[in-house]
Amino acid sequence: MAAIVGRKLVVQAPTVLAGDWDKALAAEHKATLLLFDKLEKTAPDDRRKRRLLLMQLSHALGKHAMEEENAVYPALRDNGLTAEADALNHDHGYVKQYLYDLSDLIAQGEAFLPKLAAFRADLETHMRTEEQEIFPRLKTALTQDANTALTRRMNGEGLKLA
Ligand SMILES: [Fe+2]
Ligand SMILES: [Fe+2]
Repeated sequence: MAAIVGRKLVVQAPTVLAGDWDKALAAEHKATLLLFDKLEKTAPDDRRKRRLLLMQLSHALGKHAMEEENAVYPALRDNGLTAEADALNHDHGYVKQYLYDLSDLIAQGEAFLPKLAAFRADLETHMRTEEQEIFPRLKTALTQDANTALTRRMNGEGLKLA
């Protein structure tokens, strides 16, 4: 049990160390794009590597979604940003769709990279909307104490899936 908790703390550490909830989520966005960089360099016949990287991507995005959907998006709705939170949540559904489709395409070689490129483009738009438009609005709306509480809560959610 202690080993499991220790491993979880290690996985969650970069997020915790990044600071406030918005900085932490931006750091995760960056780390996620690095996995796309690696996947883009894989050859069609390198199925093992694609499967492994896709698993890492699924895990990173799953943890990230848990942090946003269970802490940040509810905070958005409680602060008058309901439509914005619902639109972001809708995007997360399609993240899962891409992951589902990509796992089927691993075996099909050539079709994999175009799907990956479409995924990355949609995801980058989503990340930009969060980082540049919506998250700054929530951060400004919250007091410093409320921002600190949200960071703690978000990290707790991340730890569940770390
Ligand atoms: Fe998101
Ligand atoms: Fe995000």
